[in-house]
Amino acid sequence: MCAPALIPSETGFLLAARHGTTSTVCVIINEANDSCRSTKPKTVYRAFHQPIHPLRQHCTAHCWPRCPERSPSPHQLCFECRIGRPHSRPHTHTRTLGDMFMQLVTVVGVYATLCWLYENLRTPVLLLVQGFQQLFLGGQTSLPQKYGPWAVITGGSDGIGKGYAHYLASQGMKVLLIARNEAKLKRVADEIMAKHQGAEVKVLVADFSKGEQIYERLEQELAAFDIGILVNNVGVINEKPIQVDRMEKRMLWDLININCGAATNLCNIAVPAMKRRHRGLIINISSLASVAPTPYLAIYAATKAYMTSFSLALRQEVAPYGIECQTVAPGYVHTSMTEYLNPTDGQKNAFSIRLVKVADMIRYAGYCIGKVDQTTGHWSHGIQTATLNMLPASLKLRVFTRLYTQLLHEYSNTDKKTT
Ligand SMILES: NC(=O)c1ccc[n+]([C@@H]2O[C@H](COP(=O)([O-])OP(=O)(O)OC[C@H]3O[C@@H](n4cnc5c(N)ncnc54)[C@H](OP(=O)(O)O)[C@@H]3O)[C@@H](O)[C@H]2O)c1
Repeated sequence: MCAPALIPSETGFLLAARHGTTSTVCVIINEANDSCRSTKPKTVYRAFHQPIHPLRQHCTAHCWPRCPERSPSPHQLCFECRIGRPHSRPHTHTRTLGDMFMQLVTVVGVYATLCWLYENLRTPVLLLVQGFQQLFLGGQTSLPQKYGPWAVITGGSDGIGKGYAHYLASQGMKVLLIARNEAKLKRVADEIMAKHQGAEVKVLVADFSKGEQIYERLEQELAAFDIGILVNNVGVINEKPIQVDRMEKRMLWDLININCGAATNLCNIAVPAMKRRHRGLIINISSLASVAPTPYLAIYAATKAYMTSFSLALRQEVAPYGIECQTVAPGYVHTSMTEYLNPTDGQKNAFSIRLVKVADMIRYAGYCIGKVDQTTGHWSHGIQTATLNMLPASLKLRVFTRLYTQLLHEYSNTDKKTT
């Protein structure tokens, strides 16, 4: 056995010795502090009997004890010893490319996680904070006091729009419903007035698929109302997943005129008066489909991406004038629009079980009014959106392609109720 090398370490002494061809490293822990260096070590904790690198002793003696960021394991060689290069300069800790790559990955990972948490937890956290504030500090003003007396809801005679109409009437707002079918509008108006005592409901017949020509009349009719809340809800979807080139031309224009044109023009009409009054709320209904391009619902998803983009930008434009703008991007809600997802035999399938009832969505979305500027309208849709947002854009597109290709095949023979 050659003479052992005694090397001070943080916790005691490291004894490196060689037995013939096999080297032995003993870690000897001195229970006392550094001042015990001169004393004889008391406790032998472990002895490693393993072959070690020929440069091991050199490294152990010269590099490892002096390296400020050395590995806690004395078995690890420093970089220069590992690559067999003689030490050209006094040894300082040398970072390997691997170390630097890992550090970069860690920084990027932490940054991406923080961004994701901010984007996806902002709404629930704000809701909780505002909810607690209202509960314990009070001071909640009613919607008509805060925004103004009238709520205008496009597509207010059915589905999500009808749900908003009921909710806003229950909160003391006067409601103006806009849709095509007058009889249906009147029926819903009567239903709301019967359910919410003292509610005032008016109806306005308009067909947004007609495009530019309808807005002059609408502007004149709406001038009579002090609009506090504008719900840009009206929207249509192609009857079933379909390739763009197979769609009827009329449907292409309907999707653009109704899904994008209506909200854009109504904001143009309503915002000037809101600015003058320095109050108001615009609720824009987008969709989970806006999160990624959606093959076979390509135009619908693109119109909803437009809605999200338009709504977020508008929020910044109108905020200095005391006007709020909320973007609502729900997932599947059970309305006539998604009726085709329900199997006709009454059985449940992977899509139909994801359909949220309008009443459940409105309970959540209604609670979000005046509290947050962005919501999915239902907590379960929040989870779906947050999960999708974990994926890079190209992977999201793949997921949507797979999902809607399946829908294209499954539902291509299923008819949807006309909206
Ligand atoms: N359902 C979902 O799963 C879901 C998910 C995400 C987002 N969204 C969005 O939520 C909004 C409402 O969807 P929904 O499912 O509640 O739809 P819906 O049940 O089909 O109701 C559509 C409403 O719009 C009216 N409307 C349709 N075409 C019109 C036109 N050309 N002019 C004027 N009014 C028209 C309809 O009344 P008339 O037929 O009498 O005109 C009805 O009141 C849409 O913007 C949709 O994109 C829905």
